Amino acid sequence: MKLFTICSYAAVSLAPLINAYPGMAANMGEFHASAKEARQDTKQLIGDLKTLKDSQLTSVGKDIKAILLNQQNALSTVIDTGAPAGTPDSAACKADLCCIWKWISYDMTARFNGSSGRCTKYARAAVRLGFHDSGAWSTSSSFGGADGSILLTDEINRGENSGLEFIAEQMKAWYSKYNKYGVSMADLIQMGANVATVVCPLGPRVRSFVGRKDNAKAGPTGLLPSPRDSADSIIKLFAAKTIDPTDLVALVGAHTTSQQHFFDTSRDGDPQDSTPGVWDVAFYGETTTSTPPRIIKFPSDIALSQDSRTSALWQGMSVQGRWNSDWSKAYTRLSLLGVNNINDLKECTKVLPAARTTFVNQDQVLLDRWLQGEFDQLNNMVDDAIMLTGVISGRSANETES
Ligand code: HEM
Repeated sequence: MKLFTICSYAAVSLAPLINAYPGMAANMGEFHASAKEARQDTKQLIGDLKTLKDSQLTSVGKDIKAILLNQQNALSTVIDTGAPAGTPDSAACKADLCCIWKWISYDMTARFNGSSGRCTKYARAAVRLGFHDSGAWSTSSSFGGADGSILLTDEINRGENSGLEFIAEQMKAWYSKYNKYGVSMADLIQMGANVATVVCPLGPRVRSFVGRKDNAKAGPTGLLPSPRDSADSIIKLFAAKTIDPTDLVALVGAHTTSQQHFFDTSRDGDPQDSTPGVWDVAFYGETTTSTPPRIIKFPSDIALSQDSRTSALWQGMSVQGRWNSDWSKAYTRLSLLGVNNINDLKECTKVLPAARTTFVNQDQVLLDRWLQGEFDQLNNMVDDAIMLTGVISGRSANETES
C-alpha cells in the first residue's frame, strides 16, 4: 500500500471517532456513592500529615488530607486564563508564587500537545517520569520519593528508567531555565506530570501543589515494578507505598496513552491500546479483550485485570468520569510520597491549561489501519502525535510513493 493511496482513502472517509464520555457527571456520582465505604479503611496518611493535628493544618494541608482519605476528589476547574503577572524577571512575577509556574505551564503545554490534538511522547514520558521519581520510596524508606533525585543524581540510568532519556533532557533544560526563580526539580517533575495529564485529550485537571524539597541523594533501589511481575508482587509493592488496589488500578490506566519502546524492542513504538496519546478508558477494556495486532499488552496489566483483588476495580474503572476522579486522588498521593512538608505546600492549579472533555481523532481512519499493522512509516509520527492526514496531504505524490 502506497501512502498516495492512503491520502485518497483518508479524504473520503474521515468519519470521526468520538472519544467523549457522555454522562460523566452522573457516573461520577454513582461511583462515589458505591465505592466510598469499600475503600475508606485502606487509605493511609503520609508525610507530616501523619502526625499533625487538624488544628495545625493549613488550608492546603486540610485539602490534601481530605483527598488522601478519599473524602474529596482532587479535580479542579479553577483556571487563570489571563497572562502571567509579568515576565519571569519582573517584580510583579516574583511577587506572585504561581506566576513562574504559569510560564512553565506554557512551555510544557507547547511541548506536550501534538498537531493531531493527541499528547506527544514528551507528555506520556512526563507522566511516567513523575511516577519513577516518586515511586522510589516505601514506608520503610527514610529517603527517596518525589524529591527530584531521578534527575539530580544518576538514578535515571537505572534499567527501569529506559525510555525516559529524552524527557530527562527536556526537564533538565526547564530546570536550568527556571531553577533561578526558586523552582525545585521535584516540583517541576510533578507539575510536568499534571500538565501532561490534562494536555492529553480527556485527561483530568489534577490539583497541583508546589514546595517539595529536592534531594541530591539517589532514591532507594528495587521499588519500581517490572512488566513481568505478578499481580501479587505489584499489589504488595504498591501497598508498601500506601497505594491500595483502587489507586493502583487507577494509576496503571496511564498506559492508555502509552507507546512502548523497551518492553519489546522489536516492536518499537507499539501502543498499549488503540488510542495512544488519548486519556480515554479504552485501555481497561482492551486489556481483557482481543485487539488489533499492533497493540502490545504488558503481562503485569493483564495480571492486574484478572487478579481477584483488582479485576472488579479494573472493570469499574472503564468509565471515564470514575477513572478521572480516582486518578486525581491516586496521583495526588503518588506525587507526595516521601514529602514531609505537605502542610506547607502551596497550590498553583490555576496555571494548568483547560481540560478537554471531548475529543475527535480526525485521522482515526489512518490510525486504525496502522493498528492493523500497515504503514510502519507512520510509527514516529504517531509517537509525536502528529496529525497523520496533514502529513500525508502535505507531501507530493513522488515523495509518498517512494
Ligand atoms: C503497575 C506497574 C507498572 C509497570 C509494570 C509499568 C511498566 C511500564 C512499561 C514497561 C512501560 C513501557 C516503557 C517502554 O518500553 O518504553 C510503561 C510505560 C508507561 N507507564 Fe508504566 N508501569 C507501571 C505503572 C505505571 C504507573 C503507576 C504510571 C503512572 C502513574 C505509569 C505510567 C506510564 C506511562 C505514561 C507510560 C508511557 C510512556 C510512553 O509512552 O513513552 N506506569 N510502563
